[in-house]
Order: sequence, then structure tokens, then C-alpha cells
Amino acid sequence: VDAQEYPVQSVEADDIHLPHRQLDAHKGDFGKVYILGGSVGYTGAPALAARAAVRTGTGLVNLGLPAPVWPIVAAKLDEPMPHPLPAGKDGQLSLEAGEAALAQISSCGICLLGPGLGRSNSTAAVVRHLLQEIRLPVVLDADGINALEGHIDVLDARQGLHTVLTPHDGEFARLGGDLSDGDRLRAARTFAMEHTCCLVLKGHRTITAFPDGSAYINTTGNPGMAKGGSGDVLSGIILSLLGQGFPARQAVPMAVWLHGAAGDVCAQEIGEYGMTPSDLIDALPAVIRKHV
Ligand code: APR
Ligand code: MG
Repeated sequence: VDAQEYPVQSVEADDIHLPHRQLDAHKGDFGKVYILGGSVGYTGAPALAARAAVRTGTGLVNLGLPAPVWPIVAAKLDEPMPHPLPAGKDGQLSLEAGEAALAQISSCGICLLGPGLGRSNSTAAVVRHLLQEIRLPVVLDADGINALEGHIDVLDARQGLHTVLTPHDGEFARLGGDLSDGDRLRAARTFAMEHTCCLVLKGHRTITAFPDGSAYINTTGNPGMAKGGSGDVLSGIILSLLGQGFPARQAVPMAVWLHGAAGDVCAQEIGEYGMTPSDLIDALPAVIRKHV
């Protein structure tokens, strides 16, 4: 792919617009989303993504969690609806969990696979099974992305269905992404075009690339966000905007911008050292309100 000849746009505050909510709106107008995540050792990630989706305006947030961690994650959350899924003796999702999750996902408009899922073989197999069966748009993050290592054909088979992947550099490399020449824009574009997906290559100046070769460079964010959990907040925001019906081309660059802008507010008010991913979630409403 000669990705250099396609347009690239930097995303600025003036590009961010959210519509007013209709006076007679109800929760069904703002999306019903599903998050599959969590494992022993990673109980915060799915909660962060779920809270971020709520704070971005989603109507209903459902979560599927391995039964052993379900009470822990459920206890953190008020608005989202946590569902326990069958797990084996090792605490990892079993294959029946895939079927149970599928049934729950089918009543939602979009799902996020990955936050805190862990990297066991059985969990990765569940993720791949879901990717093959789900006819809805899917956001893949973290261990949802890792499940594709050596199985990129599963992604390619989804052509025509929206798939958004949000790797950091390590996850991108596991997908077969090539950053060897340091040209992140070219790498992201090439991947999005070759695999017909939306690729969000995270980091300083996150790049969002689409299958037609167009790409967006983000202008918000700061090193205070370099902390475990920041990425989970981003995937929740992306899920929320897609679930509310924004086309991917608007939703994804806008989510990346809002996430970074919330980070910039936290850096100002709290400082880069002490700010947390939970603080990003708390800063989101005021950031969003300025763009409605
Ligand atoms: N400037 C701007 N943005 C930044 C910076 C920076 N210097 N550093 C980090 N960020 C933003 C990134 O753009 C991204 O949106 O913070 C987020 C970090 O996301 P991840 O790299 O996914 O990090 P994390 O949330 O810690 O992921 C948690 O899941 O992906 C796995 O292996 C990962 O164990 C880790 C876990
Ligand atoms: Mg991450």
C-alpha cells in the first residue's frame, strides 16, 4: 500500500460537535452497549470502560464478566448492568460463556471486547468465536486485540462489518503492525486499508486511520495519561459514541479528542503526576458540555 497519498487531518476543538438531546428523548435513543471484560487480577478495566460509556451519554451499559470476578466489578458500578458468565476452575471464561455472551450481545447495538480479559487461551478462543459470530460493530481493545495474535484471518473475515481496534504500540506489533521505520501514520493507514478496519494507534498524538486511507491526528492529551487504565477509558468513550449512532468517521476521532481533552483538564487541575484514569471520567462531562 502506498499510504502517503491519502489525506490526513488534525483534529482540533472546532471539529467537535455533539447534538442537543431532544426534549422527548428516552434511553433507547442513546444506545445499548455491551462490554466483555474482566478477569482475576483485572477488575478495574471493565469498570473504567463502563463508567466512561455512562459519562459519555450511553442509554444502557451492559457488562459480561467471568463469574468469579462478577461480584467485585458489580459492586463498583451503579448505572451499568453486570452479568456473570460461566468460567472454568481457573476462573477463565469457558466456551459456554461465548454462547451466553452472544445471546446478551444480540439485544445490544454494539460491543467492546477486551478490557481486562487476560491472556488465557480459553478466553482468547471465546473472543475469536464472538468476532466470527457477532454481526454488529465491535470495538476491540487490550486482550481482545491480543486474541488476534496469529489469527488475523478472523479480523479479515469481518470485512464490511465495522471493527475498531485501539492498540498501543505493543498490541499493534502483536497484530503484525510494522512500526520499524518510526512512521506511525503510514503504519496505521496501511493496517486499516489492508484489514478493512478502523485502527486507533494510541500514544502521544494518537492516529485514527480508516480503510479508505483517510487518517486523523489527535491534538489533545498529555503524559499524565500514561497510567494503567487510561486506555480502558478511551475504549468506553468510543463505544459510547458509536452506540449513540455517530458514524465511525466522526465518533472515533471525536472520542480520541475528548479523552485527551479530559486529560488536559486533569493535568491543569490535578497535575500530571497525581491524575488518574478515574479523574479522566470525572472530567468528561464538562469537556463534552462545551461542545454541545
Ligand atoms: N500523551 C498523550 N496521550 C497519552 C500519553 C502521552 N504521553 N501516554 C498515554 N496516553 C494515552 C494514550 O493515547 C491512550 O489513549 O493514554 C492511553 C493509554 O492507553 P493504553 O496504552 O492502552 O494503556 P492502559 O490503559 O494502561 O492499558 C491497560 O491494557 O492495553 C492493555 O497492556 C495494556 O496492561 C495494559 C492495560
Ligand atoms: Mg490498554
